[in-house]
Amino acid sequence: MRVLVTGGAGFIGSAVIRHLVLEKGYEVLNIDKLTYAGTLSSLTSVEGKPSYRFLKIDICDAAAIASAMSTFRPDRVMHLAAESHVDRSILGARQFVETNILGSFTMLECARAYWQALLPLDRSRFRFLHVSTDEVYGSLGAEGAFSETTPYDPSSPYSASKAASDHLAKAWARTYGMPVIVSNCSNNYGPYHFPEKLIPLIILNALEGKPLPVYGNGTNIRDWLYVEDHARALDLIAERGRVGETYNVGGRNERSNIDVVRRICAILDDLQAIGRPHENLIQYVADRPGHDVRYAIDATKLETELGWRAKESFETGIEKTVCWYLDSEWWWAPLRKGYDGRRLGLLKAGAG
Ligand code: NAD
Ligand code: TYD
Repeated sequence: MRVLVTGGAGFIGSAVIRHLVLEKGYEVLNIDKLTYAGTLSSLTSVEGKPSYRFLKIDICDAAAIASAMSTFRPDRVMHLAAESHVDRSILGARQFVETNILGSFTMLECARAYWQALLPLDRSRFRFLHVSTDEVYGSLGAEGAFSETTPYDPSSPYSASKAASDHLAKAWARTYGMPVIVSNCSNNYGPYHFPEKLIPLIILNALEGKPLPVYGNGTNIRDWLYVEDHARALDLIAERGRVGETYNVGGRNERSNIDVVRRICAILDDLQAIGRPHENLIQYVADRPGHDVRYAIDATKLETELGWRAKESFETGIEKTVCWYLDSEWWWAPLRKGYDGRRLGLLKAGAG
């Protein structure tokens, strides 16, 4: 099995590649532009293996993508490359439109040309998995969960750009009969997570005795999934998912932001004598513009059709994650030099 993964130097893409190379024994080509969010240090466990290759390519570069496809000849494409941080999208949406929309369009067009030229058996086995987010569905009230038929209603430039790319992917399936599948997943957490997102930012700030910024009143809810559970789900969907379908991925682990932050503080209190109690570092700061109140995923389709189950509960996953950051300064210290955790995405300078 030969799998072309885009965005493989990122958080989820690197977990997917570790799973495919180390657990499944697949051949993998990683295509990544290495933006601020991409680092090859997340892939030291596969580096040097003959079944793993890397090409530094921008997914908007059609000629380079086409050439990589015709040389590598993938059985599957798993497309994860994206600009992924909501706060960055608020002040700089252009890169999100370029990579998430135009880049996905480029990937679909190059894959279509490649797929159409395949021999009939290879053509029928080919799959293009477009990896997306539950944020395309917008914000929930106190009740209910997102299903695959929930109407799209994105709030941020990030989620709007992902929604646009989902529509392109589905249109390529309907119009060209291309074997495309779309997955929409809830918030991931775990090792190798760039420290601009809530969980790694809070862990590192707490370790360094810095304030722990909680947006608004901290009651916004996210549905957390351990990244390795997501990687297994994506492999399963690419392997056995039905062409033209959407699969929601989530671990039924809803938590308010303030509960997540308090849990990280409690784990650190147990593991580290210095800095106790870490909760004293919590600071409520100005809310994110357009902040979605609640996300929750109904993953029944993935569970019943493909037999997937999350292995980690939030309790087990968050403990593993905190321990990993305590042991992995070699990984995060260089990234922290490039981005020190300062607030991003406020419309008024100085607020919060
Ligand atoms: P990430 O920001 O950690 O990684 C993105 C990767 O894409 C980086 O390695 C970056 O260098 C690469 N990239 C960016 N622009 C590129 C371009 N133009 N060409 C080639 N490579 C480029 O993101 P992530 O959290 O790993 O998310 C991966 C995918 O999963 C994204 O499509 C995201 O929308 C989706 N997703 C993320 C979450 C989450 O909680 N993080 C949840 C659901 C879905
Ligand atoms: P984030 O990790 O940016 O993921 P997303 O916006 O894609 O859900 O944020 C998760 C939640 O945490 C979200 O409700 C915003 C909030 N948040 C904070 O309260 N403080 C922070 O410093 C960050 C980065 C996020």
